[in-house]
Amino acid sequence: MNVQSIKGLVQADRVHRAVYTDPQLFELELDRIFGRAWLVLGHESQVAHPGDFFTTRMGREPIIVTRHTDGSVRVLVNRCAHRGARVCEAADGTTAEFVCAYHGWTYGTDGRLAGLPLPEGYARPAAQSIDGGLARVPRVDAYRGFLFASLAAHGPTLAEFLGPLRASFDDFVERAPEGEVEVAGGVFKHAYRGNWKLVLENHNDTVHPVFVHASSIWAARREPTAEGAYSEIGVRQMLQNGAPWEVWENTGLWVAGHGHSWMADYHDDSRLVAALAHPAFAEYRAALERRLGREGAARVLGELRWNSIVYPNCSFMSQFRQLRIVHPIAVDRTVVYAYSFRLKGAPERMFRDTVAFSNVVNGTASPVLTDDLEVYERTQEGLGARGSDWVFLGRGQGGDLPDRDGTLRGRTGTSEVHIRNQLAAWLEYMTAES
Ligand code: FES
Ligand SMILES: [Fe+2]
Repeated sequence: MNVQSIKGLVQADRVHRAVYTDPQLFELELDRIFGRAWLVLGHESQVAHPGDFFTTRMGREPIIVTRHTDGSVRVLVNRCAHRGARVCEAADGTTAEFVCAYHGWTYGTDGRLAGLPLPEGYARPAAQSIDGGLARVPRVDAYRGFLFASLAAHGPTLAEFLGPLRASFDDFVERAPEGEVEVAGGVFKHAYRGNWKLVLENHNDTVHPVFVHASSIWAARREPTAEGAYSEIGVRQMLQNGAPWEVWENTGLWVAGHGHSWMADYHDDSRLVAALAHPAFAEYRAALERRLGREGAARVLGELRWNSIVYPNCSFMSQFRQLRIVHPIAVDRTVVYAYSFRLKGAPERMFRDTVAFSNVVNGTASPVLTDDLEVYERTQEGLGARGSDWVFLGRGQGGDLPDRDGTLRGRTGTSEVHIRNQLAAWLEYMTAES
């Protein structure tokens, strides 16, 4: 597909369905979007000590993220330099070296070839013939402990890429009394039969909750949760999903360059814990005040950000300490990893709520998430039909307002500006020279 025909797919208030269904476009996306953009890999706490590692993907590339003995984080392509087998199968762990299961070639945590069987059987040392070892991803960087990498040797710096979205990461980290967060409590993985864009388009979509989540709103309204019950935080979210239009219309929604966006002024868990007069929140606030002072803590707690989208592969909720990474598998197949974070120095109750939120709202068996997945699959199937070639994205168009730091604010919180912004970034990646 040439650049001209790609340009015709994204228009001011509509997008061609091929963007979600064409396998050829999907291949191009892996190359031009996932092969170029900075992708969120995870968090430094997942590789806290030398030898720690986890495996992930960058588009189609299988990836190992490790902490080398010198303390640096290395991002390696999980492909044996001998005959191409994946070298590491474990999701995470700690190791001194990676041993390929095929012929036993062994690599250090920096990817360098450390040993192989029958080394004398080669005309010149094997390490020379294979450029040293496992291939390294050309660019690796971190922001406030969050790890990023890019498969492209050149491109915007991470700071340029993130732009004003950095404030969402700041918000995430500043909420921790010790000024640090860490991944804790494992990972939820879920898959759906739909395009990877559908989940990112949904996370700032404030019109869908009352419809898609109707059954869990109904259940939450029917049965008030007992004070302090495990699911309390999740049930609050279900009730929130049934909020009147006025609430959604007044929610803040900002978009920035490179396809990023975030929602704010939505609702916050301080109300949850405070409403229960639970000592945990007062304890948390006091701990935060010890680091930031009274005003500083009030400023941090007053920043009510909801979903932040890091286009093209991540969405996170600083208030609820959740982060999701989106892995495109095929044009109609996506896998999402959901992580919970602990605010260092916060009472354990805060983390319990984070895990409960994850179980009830973002987890694999959640009565909320499953409805989103169902609607992604219905959308994918509908987009495969030939009734019309266009997806309409006109809500709020023409009314979005320029705001500080080069952002655009949705005319209201229900604007589809975040989707138009993602597709503008999509077009830029897909049609850029190289
Ligand atoms: S493919 Fe890895 S050792 Fe042969
Ligand atoms: Fe939803």
